[in-house]
Amino acid sequence: MALPNTMRRILLAAIPDGKPKPSDFRMEDAPTPACPADGVLVRTAWLSVDPYLRGRIAGKRTYVDPIPVGEVMVSGAVGEVVESRFSKFAVGDFVSGMWGWQEYAALPAKGLLQLDPEQAPVSTALGILGMPGMTAYFGFLELCQPKAGETVVVSGAAGAVGSAVGQIAKIKGCRVVGVAGSQEKIDFVRSLGFDEAFNYRTDKPYSETLRRLCPNGIDCYFDNVGGEVNGRGDRRDERVRANRAMRADCDV
Ligand SMILES: NC(=O)c1ccc[n+]([C@@H]2O[C@H](COP(=O)([O-])OP(=O)(O)OC[C@H]3O[C@@H](n4cnc5c(N)ncnc54)[C@H](OP(=O)(O)O)[C@@H]3O)[C@@H](O)[C@H]2O)c1
Repeated sequence: MALPNTMRRILLAAIPDGKPKPSDFRMEDAPTPACPADGVLVRTAWLSVDPYLRGRIAGKRTYVDPIPVGEVMVSGAVGEVVESRFSKFAVGDFVSGMWGWQEYAALPAKGLLQLDPEQAPVSTALGILGMPGMTAYFGFLELCQPKAGETVVVSGAAGAVGSAVGQIAKIKGCRVVGVAGSQEKIDFVRSLGFDEAFNYRTDKPYSETLRRLCPNGIDCYFDNVGGEVNGRGDRRDERVRANRAMRADCDV
């Protein structure tokens, strides 16, 4: 199939002040790139919007350089190879990697991961089989070292990482308490098998709710949010006390 001469892409238009808004981004047409030597041209199928992107659009260096204003947004992505000049990849293969928020991307083969659609939907490379899933799996199992019968508290429980941590904890025989910010999310995490869940916006004070739901204390706290929920800032008295803790949050 002939490729279009132009494609759409999304640029960072301004450094967001507080919560990012649509006007901080701009869509434009650009020439469809050519397939590079020793690389591939992919048609983007899925893009991932992860919390670390907030730091990347803050206009200053964090652990990586910021995305400059006027440049294409970049994130984890999955796409289908539409042209290949690298023997390992054929047209029709699906790959994941990091590239721009654009319909087509010309990419070096190095750094691309080949996906097998027979094993799982390719979008899972950005979710449960990608960075969020790995963070949940290794962060919880290796750092928290859970044991059957222990009480586990998970903040950001309805999120990509938190929802996976809670389900792994249930598989390991733990009692799991989730913290989330709406009734819809509470219902969702309960549907995943969490034993208890509460809304930190309404079930206050936070520390009392935790004491009530965890009468034998907290063995493991998997924190996905940082900030106020953890008792930093002006709510230090509400700090979660646990025997073991894992912080996945980047606290931006
Ligand atoms: N170290 C790593 O390699 C790595 C990899 C992946 C993710 N992470 C980190 O893991 C955490 C979770 O990632 P994710 O992909 O699961 O995120 P996500 O799906 O976007 O979920 C984040 C949730 O956090 C809650 N939240 C946001 N601001 C909050 C606040 N001020 N106080 C309390 N809760 C707040 C929101 O849920 P509510 O509506 O329930 O508040 C939000 O939906 C993030 O901090 C991310 O940076 C780290």
